[in-house]
Amino acid sequence: MATAVANPLRAGQRLQDRVSMATAVANPLRAGQRLGRTPGPCALVIFGGTGDLSSRKIIPALYNLAHQRLLPAAFAVVGTARAPLTDEAYREALHADLLEYSRTKPIDEDVWQSFAERVHYVSTHDPTGYDDLRERLARVDREVGTGGNRLFYLATPPSAHVPIVDALKAHELADRETSRVVVEKPFGHDLASAMALSQRLHSVFNEDNVFRIDHYLGKETVQNIVVLRFANGIFEPIWNRQYVDHVQITVAESLGTEERGAYYEQVGALRDIVQNHLLQLMALIAMEPPIEFEAKAVRDEKLKVLRAVRPISTDDVAAQVVRGQYAAGFVEGRRVASYRDEEAISPTSRTESFVALKAYVDNWRWEGTPFYLRTGKRLPKRATEIAIQFRVAPHQVFSRAAAEGLGPNELVIRIQPDEGISLRFGAKVPIQGIRIRSVNMDFVYGAAFMVDAPDAYETLILDALRGDGTLFTRQDEVEQQWRLVDPIADAWRAEAAPLASYAAGTWGPAEADALIAGDGRRWREP
Ligand code: BG6
Repeated sequence: MATAVANPLRAGQRLQDRVSMATAVANPLRAGQRLGRTPGPCALVIFGGTGDLSSRKIIPALYNLAHQRLLPAAFAVVGTARAPLTDEAYREALHADLLEYSRTKPIDEDVWQSFAERVHYVSTHDPTGYDDLRERLARVDREVGTGGNRLFYLATPPSAHVPIVDALKAHELADRETSRVVVEKPFGHDLASAMALSQRLHSVFNEDNVFRIDHYLGKETVQNIVVLRFANGIFEPIWNRQYVDHVQITVAESLGTEERGAYYEQVGALRDIVQNHLLQLMALIAMEPPIEFEAKAVRDEKLKVLRAVRPISTDDVAAQVVRGQYAAGFVEGRRVASYRDEEAISPTSRTESFVALKAYVDNWRWEGTPFYLRTGKRLPKRATEIAIQFRVAPHQVFSRAAAEGLGPNELVIRIQPDEGISLRFGAKVPIQGIRIRSVNMDFVYGAAFMVDAPDAYETLILDALRGDGTLFTRQDEVEQQWRLVDPIADAWRAEAAPLASYAAGTWGPAEADALIAGDGRRWREP
């Protein structure tokens, strides 16, 4: 108390803190903002209810939400797919999946039982299936009290999206004002198809009720990019062209196409990862501070970045973008087949499993600062990271010999695995005389918080149930992403740029190294 009176600034400061806390509680929007508001009553209808995504991600996420008591009391799941199944058989199949894929184990059977009682199944094998679906939803409304609120989840292959939306419309299953829809990626396969899909969705749903998934946005470490940048005062002053030499964003996977060959062969790395995950990570790194952490403000700022990305024209593709496909090799000590020898892949496939590119954000903050993006399958390890490399000190006061072990300062955001952030700087080696070596200051999520982070799907499903679109991509963002990617796909289709080869288990083709080496830089090895 004495200090507070003696130091008016401090006293004022504390008062302000208290006032802003009071505002946060008094303003329901802010208080609810990502702080655990329980969603209202709702029936979640999963199209593709027997598919891989349901088994591996959606149902485990729902179970874990139930386990954390984050689902509303009035809640039901209606799975739908073509197969004729009873509710009982469906629940049993989901239980088996849960045992395999749940983030938390062992399964709490009491939680599962009370969750499973709310799980239904309706076959939509033929058009009458949609009448059955309507009846079942009406019954759920009566019995569970879901009040006509619906969240439709399109967890089907993209070719099924339009027919489902049309059927929802024809059978009057959705209410424009209140029903919501979650759409899995890829959202279209180019700009024209993405626009057509949005138009179709808008014939049934308001844009505010359309939740386009980019599951990277639900990852804790991706959400933390915004926190790191805007909850702290020390990074923003140097987060620009004046201090940043370049940015590298890597999404590396050691896996091949697994059982998704047929899908992957159609999309390739450009549409699978660059068009969505990589461009979203870049937008979060490059964007200006939003006025608040809320759907419109955040998405407006990301859109500005995407619009400022310098388009890579079809003519520039050969110079700025590298595509590669893996040959046989060794990954994590195991011999693996080439891309063309994977299941469901054409032996003459031209689909890329690797992309590296150089992008520029033409705005005041980033003019002239390269953003190097790369992604690939069958790389040496699974690692997603963002490295901000800073310019070197303007004048070196130490001798060249003393500074031999000194690299540029670098802030590395490890998205996964080994989630954390490290800052590299030079330190004096503790011997007589001056010798400098780069060292890392490391923040490790697991050690700092000692909790298991929620899976991205838990976060995203909960947000969709709450109607919070902050972590979903808006129509204009998705379209702008396609505008950037389409000319590259066009150039490749026209064979205007070569398809390079790389041995599985290496960091991509030599052409990718040449792309960055041409600027006097090199890729990091995560
Ligand atoms: C998906 C891609 O969006 O992301 C997959 O379709 C990829 O090909 C996956 O494997 C990677 O996700 P995560 O969360 O494992 O990095």
